[in-house]
Formats: sequence, C-alpha cells, structure tokens
Amino acid sequence: MDNNLANVIRSKIDIVDIIGERIPLTAKGKNFFGVCPFHDDSNPSMCVSREKQIYTCFSCHATGNVYTFLMNYEHLEFPEVLKYLGDRVGVIVEGSKYSKKNTKFDKLYEAYNLTAKYYQNNLNSSLGKEAKKYLYNRQINDEIIKEFGIGLSLNKKDDLVNLLTKKGYDLATLNNIGLAVDDYDVYRDRIMFSLYDITGKIVGFSGRIYKDNNQNKYLNTKETAIFKKGEILYHYHIAKEECRLKKSVIVMEGFMDVIRASTIGIRNTVALMGTALTKEQISLLKRLSNNIILCLDGDSAGVHATLSIGQNLFDQGIEVKVINLPDPLDPDTFILNNGQESFENLVSSVINFSDFKMLKLRENVDFRSDEEKANYINSVLEEMTKITDEIRIEVMLKRLAKEFDIEYNTLQMRLYSLKKAQNTPKEMALPIKKDVKKKDKYVKAVEQVFYFMLNNDWVISQVEKEKLILAEETMRNLCSEIIYFYKQNGFINTADFYTYVNDKDDILVLLNSILADNYNEKTTKEELNLYFKVIKDYSIKQEIKRLNILMKKEFDPLQQALIAEKIRKLRIGE
Ligand code: UTP
Ligand code: MN
Repeated sequence: MDNNLANVIRSKIDIVDIIGERIPLTAKGKNFFGVCPFHDDSNPSMCVSREKQIYTCFSCHATGNVYTFLMNYEHLEFPEVLKYLGDRVGVIVEGSKYSKKNTKFDKLYEAYNLTAKYYQNNLNSSLGKEAKKYLYNRQINDEIIKEFGIGLSLNKKDDLVNLLTKKGYDLATLNNIGLAVDDYDVYRDRIMFSLYDITGKIVGFSGRIYKDNNQNKYLNTKETAIFKKGEILYHYHIAKEECRLKKSVIVMEGFMDVIRASTIGIRNTVALMGTALTKEQISLLKRLSNNIILCLDGDSAGVHATLSIGQNLFDQGIEVKVINLPDPLDPDTFILNNGQESFENLVSSVINFSDFKMLKLRENVDFRSDEEKANYINSVLEEMTKITDEIRIEVMLKRLAKEFDIEYNTLQMRLYSLKKAQNTPKEMALPIKKDVKKKDKYVKAVEQVFYFMLNNDWVISQVEKEKLILAEETMRNLCSEIIYFYKQNGFINTADFYTYVNDKDDILVLLNSILADNYNEKTTKEELNLYFKVIKDYSIKQEIKRLNILMKKEFDPLQQALIAEKIRKLRIGE
C-alpha cells in the first residue's frame, strides 16, 4: 500500500490531541500520561509522546501511532481512520484506493440492512396502521420512528425469507444469522427495533409484541458471529460523542428508556438490554466516560441490579453514581409521567453508589429494635471502610453519631478496627506480577540497535555495513524493513514506520515490545560498536555450537579436522 498519503495526514495531526479528546491526559515533562483504555486499569500507565507521535502503555504494552490508536479504540479499519483524519486536516482521501476491503461479514451486514429497510417500509404501509397506532399511543412519533429505525414484521410466515432469497441469500444462511428459523421468518407481527454494534452497524433485531397475546414481550436475534449481546451496549455509537460533551454516561435497562431520554435531548445514554453487565460491557462503559451513572428501573429488580452492577464497578475502582427512580417506574415511564424538567432534576440529584447502598440498608430496618439498629449501624460502618475521602467520612460519622446518639469516638474506633481487619489480608497477599518474558543480553542489544535505527538515520547505514547475522527471523525481517523504509522515504520515524508495518503481525509484536521497553534514543559510534560486538559474539557462539554438533555426527576424520579448524578460527576471531 502507498503510505505517502498516510504519512502526510499523520504529519498534520498531533496524537496528543486525538488521544486527549478521548481520554484525559496530564502533561509530565515531555510526555503526556493517561489511563490506558486497552486494559483494566485506573492508573495512568499510558504514555503519549508528542515528539515521537506514539503512545505506549507500560502495563499492558499496547503501543502504536495515531492510526493504531483509533483503529483499536474506535474499532475502525485503517481506511476509515485515514478518511476520518484526512477530513480533519482537509486532505482528500479517495474512496476507491483506500476503500474498505471486503470482510467476510459484509454479506451479513447487508442482510440486516435490507431487513431493517423492509421492516421500516412495512410500518409505513397500510399493514402497519395498528402498530403505528400503538407507537403513537406510547408517544413515539414519526420522527423518533425514523431516527431509531423502528419497523414492523408482518403477520406472515415467509415474507422476509422470500425477499432475501430473491436477493441471493440461501436458507441456511438466513437460519444461521437469526433471520429465519427452520426456513421461516423468525419475527412475525412484532414492532422491530434495530440493534447496533458499537460502530453503528445493524447486527440484529429485537421485536416487541404490540397486541394482547401471551408471547415473550421482546424477541431478540440469537447470538451470531457479529451479534454478541454481552459485547454491545444499545446506543453506544450515538452516545460516544455525547458522553464526551456531557462528561458522563447514563446506563439504563431497556432501549425504550434510551429512546425516550433521547426525545428530551438526553443522549449520553446506553441500554444494557437486560440487567446483567459483562466484562466487555464494563470496558465499553469505561471508554465512554469515567463518570458512570446507573439509572435502572425503580422496581425491586432494578434496585437489585443497581446494587450488584454498582458493586461490580466499584470493586474495579470506578466511583459509580446512581439516579434513584421511584418504584416501580423506569426512565421511559418516569419521563412520560413527569416530564423533561423532573427527569433533569433527578439527573442533577445523582447520589454516590455508597450513599445509595446505605439508603437501601435503611429500608426495612425497625429502628425500635436495638438489635436491628446496631446491625444497621455496623453495616453502615462496614460500607464506610470503602470510602477514602476523609472529609466525607467525618461528615457521615457525625451524622450517625447525632442520629443514633452514639459517641463519635466509639463509631470512629469501630470504623478503624473494621478497616484494619480488612487491610491485613490484603497487605499479606503477594502482588501479582505480570508474566513478562525476561530479555537476555543478546535480545536487549538487538532491540537497542533497532531503537537507535528508528531514531537516527546514520545508524541504519552502520547496521547495513556490519552485515549482522540475527538469530530470529522476525529480527531479520524488522531489520530489513527499517532499512527498506529508510531507502524508500529518505527519512525514518517511529510513527510512520508503524503505519508501514501495520499488517505485518510478527514485526509488530517485536516493535511493540521494543517501544514498551526503556531503550536509549541517542548513541555514539563507539557505543554502537559495543552493541554490535554483543550481537556478533552471540552469533559466533551459536555457530560454534552448530559446528560442534556437526563434528560429533561426522565419521570422516578428515572432515572432522576441517570443522575443528573452522571452530578454532571462529574462537580466535578470524
Ligand atoms: P423492560 O421490560 O424493562 O423493557 O426490559 P422496557 O424498555 O421497559 O420495554 P417496554 O417499555 O415494556 O416496551 C429491559 C430490556 O430487557 C430486554 C430488552 O432489551 C429490554 O429493552 N428484554 C426485556 C428482553 O430481551 N426480553 C424481554 O422479554 C424483556
Ligand atoms: Mn423497563
């Protein structure tokens, strides 16, 4: 691929801006630091270098340039990132040359798009009158219907299957991708909601009954290669921008809640589409914002889910907040009943997760019973051991002391001993060490030389002259790619070299490992020669080893003598 355009665009972009728009960065010396979005963390272990235009995580070793960052962070393909960055700096990226390569899932996406259009047409046809009436009754108007791509599956057994087979899809495929079951339409007579993946592509559907019948309320597309319910959050692709502006993400249960909130201008929302939260969804949430607000249903199932999801997030170091809805309303019904302003008031009166927990602890306690009262106070103190803000602790202790007429000191002592009891086992536990392969002297020397090459043109010609013999194929490949890149372009820098080797997986692994290490950038000829010597000594040693084995296998004494002579010469450095 011609990388010139990629290099031109990259040179007009500052990686610090691009990453900084997505995760908060703090300047420290020449570099910027932030919490790495590519692994579970709350420490700022990602370093972004303005000078080198690359990022490196010292913890998970993710590293790369602005292109790899956006590809991984936004889940885009290289041409899409190129187009996005090109637009930003006013460089036209021609569609054809960089057009997306056909992925094996393209046909799948196309089937879902066709289906979504078909459903939408149905809803607008005369067969859709009753469904429309249902939607209007629920205050879903045409504008919302259009915006969220709401449609209708007809009360027919093979309407969709016929349409798609005419377009060239075979029945096996349709069964496979959840649009047919036993060769017939899956969805019949339901209001259809398109489900999107995090990039905004339709990957499935959820169909809701709208007449009185005792079927499941919602019927979702089964899990397929591209639809994994636990790996998506409804509305993520829209919420992405909004969460950045609003600096928070609001998590709701159902997509009707998200749709309703959108009608009153609140769009920094996602829906779980159920009440569980998977590991993948947690990392998606963390990408949207580090200010996560739970706004689940006000019924007991919703409270239960809030407590368990909140705890899960809290345990991972995320300070969750909660919007407490009155029982049994969900955001949708609350907004319908009480209006925009009331909901906005609720949003602005969010409480911390720990306060929510204590609020819930209070419910059902009979304060006339001394035993229940003591249990309650103890569990509040138990909760408080998780709070680190000392001022908040003091405020809470004072309130408890006053409310229950207990000495402040007694409460404080109890809290202290609870904390101590919790901390002891933690301190004794051994810190978990990352399983990082230790690099020996040889590998370090080779990697250091590569790093010098990436940062100093003159080292490249020195390496060429030396004719180093490198032990591993990947090393040899990286070495020749660096030389080749320099010859092609007349310059070298890590960020552009990165684009160039982007599709060469083995080289990338080695390059990443080098960049994540702490190698020196500048060198002198004398120092460089020392590294060359380490590399050469090693290859001589390897060669002697090889010859020794050869000699042992050799029966001809004359041949043996020749090999012995070779070994002798190698030993004395001839
Ligand atoms: P809810 O039952 O709270 O849905 O389930 P809702 O948003 O209030 O729907 P309406 O207002 O009755 O139309 C929350 C989410 O759980 C999933 C759906 O994704 C829904 O949005 N769900 C619910 C199912 O998958 N299947 C069901 O039968 C019910
Ligand atoms: Mn609901």
